[in-house]
This record gives sequence, C-alpha cells and structure tokens, in this order.
Amino acid sequence: MLNLVLFGPPGAGKGTQSARLIEKYQLVHLSTGDILRGEIANGTPLGLEAKKLMDQGILVPDEVVIGMISNKLDSNPGAKGFIFDGFPRTKAQAAALDQLLSEKNTSINAMLALNVNDEELIQRLLSRGKDSGRPDDANPDIIRKRIEEYNAKTAPLIDYYKAQDKYTSIEGVGTVDQIFNLLVDAINHLG
Ligand code: AP5
Ligand code: MG
Repeated sequence: MLNLVLFGPPGAGKGTQSARLIEKYQLVHLSTGDILRGEIANGTPLGLEAKKLMDQGILVPDEVVIGMISNKLDSNPGAKGFIFDGFPRTKAQAAALDQLLSEKNTSINAMLALNVNDEELIQRLLSRGKDSGRPDDANPDIIRKRIEEYNAKTAPLIDYYKAQDKYTSIEGVGTVDQIFNLLVDAINHLG
C-alpha cells in the first residue's frame, strides 16, 4: 500500500494536490475537514458540535476525528492506499493513526509537508473566502487563529515523522503543476 500524509498549514494546497495525487496513484482521499463539512451540511449532532469550533478556527477534539478516520479505513478494505489530508493534526492523532494502520498490517510511507509562508496563506484563504462559503475563510482574524492552532499543535508533528525518517519538505509556493511535480518526484523516490 501507499499511505501518505499530505501535511501543511491552512491554505497550503493539501486539498488541491490531493485531488491530483489520488488520480495518479489511485488512492483514497481522506480529508477530515471535508468529512466534518459533510456532517455540518447534513445537520448531524456531530456536525453541529464541530461547527462551533471550526467557525472559530479551533481544532475539534481528537476522539472525533480519530473515530472518523477509523470508520473510513474500515469502509475501504480494498484500497491501494490513502492520502491523509488535514489529519493527523496532533501527536495523539498521529499515534492513533499509526496504531490503526498497524492493526491492518500497514503503515505511513511518507509525510509530505508543503511549505508556504503566512502572507501567501492568508492571501489564498481570503481570496477563496470571497466565494467558498467557508465561514473560517471569511475573516482574517479567524485565518490567523487557524495558523496559530497549526503552529502550536500541528507543526510539532514534523518532529514526530522525522523521528520515523518519514518527513519530506516540499516547496509549496509556485504553480499547482510545479508543486504537483515536486510531490510526484518525492513519491517516486520513496524507498
Ligand atoms: P481543513 O478543511 O483541513 O482546512 P485547513 O487545513 O485549515 O486548510 P484548507 O483545507 O483550507 O487548505 P488546504 O491546504 O487544503 O489548501 P487548498 O488546496 O484548499 O480544516 C478545517 C477545520 O476543520 C479546522 O480548522 C478544524 O477546526 C477542523 N479539523 C479538520 N481536520 C481536523 C483534525 N484532524 N483535527 C482537529 N480538527 C480538524 O488551497 C487553498 C486555496 O489556495 C484554494 O483556493 C486553492 O485554489 C489555492 N491554491 C492551491 N494551490 C495554490 C498554488 N500553488 N498557488 C496559488 N493558490 C493555490
Ligand atoms: Mg483542505
């Protein structure tokens, strides 16, 4: 299997690049943000709870997203592999993911981390916010809060994956095609 963590701050291009990578490598895309927005759209109790936090740019509780990922792994038994987009976001999530994959006799092959500076992130998200309808894109203060959450709770995962020798840094500023080519190069060079 090919299991990739596509990592990066809010607006780094994780969703954009995942869409291309799943086509090229025939992988299943698991975005906890997309799954949560689906719950909100369906008006489920979980969605209503999550929305309160997401609209403020705050992470939802670990057990919520870990449960979602566990269900998705179970419901895709024949997958060639997975792209984890926006998950894991805390050390507890990363440890849970390792455990869930090991129960299925597989593991993460690589963490591909998109590097994008804060100015560019804010520009991208504000510009998307004009028509995305995402409440967390609409306001620069909430975008900054998302970046703060990333720096405080999520960026430390770089060390977690470095310790497993799975961390690869990818330049995330450039055209979508340029960045896709860098990702493909990195994937094709995995041992
Ligand atoms: P989530 O949905 O994961 O959002 P995010 O990570 O904050 O950021 P985005 O999805 O907005 O960015 P992206 O990196 O996918 O970039 P994209 O390709 O869209 O999470 C939302 C919320 O859900 C969180 O705040 C949290 O509350 C909750 N949540 C989710 N997962 C969780 C978890 N595991 N634990 C706890 N809470 C969780 O691109 C962004 C924009 O830039 C687009 O408009 C795109 O067209 C544009 N763009 C892309 N590439 C380029 C490029 N190369 N040049 C110029 N523009 C580009
Ligand atoms: Mg996304």
